[in-house]
Amino acid sequence: MTYRKWDEDFETGLTNIDSQHRELLDTINALHAAIEDPASSEYSTENLLNFLFIYTNMHLNDEEEEFEKTDYPDKDRHKAIHQEFRESIEDFQNKLANDETEINHYVFDYLSDWLINHILQIDQEAAVYIRKARDTSWEVQKDGTLVETPNH
Ligand SMILES: [Fe+2]
Repeated sequence: MTYRKWDEDFETGLTNIDSQHRELLDTINALHAAIEDPASSEYSTENLLNFLFIYTNMHLNDEEEEFEKTDYPDKDRHKAIHQEFRESIEDFQNKLANDETEINHYVFDYLSDWLINHILQIDQEAAVYIRKARDTSWEVQKDGTLVETPNH
């Protein structure tokens, strides 16, 4: 069963950011399925978690690059929030490497809650600004998704 389905509340209207957020949500769903039923999962919880960490780091860096490009006024606060999460990930990876923790529901809840809430709140706040700053237009599709096209 899918843990959390993508819906229009996730849409920021920023094509590159939305596709990375979708990938994060897909990975969260795959990790949930692997924890629930390891035997029927294509990938191990370790591999999925590893991918989630690498992908999250790449994604946070891309978002921050976008803040710089558009000179987002709240970028310092947003970057500090990212940094805190990077540190929790690192801390967790160290504990995992030293066998001080395991991949369980508690870990899953922490990671998925952080990512989902972050996308739905903090990233949406940033997206309002970035959408204005980008020289692009948006079209609302029948399914509620936003499609972005460059103006030039
Ligand atoms: Fe963010």
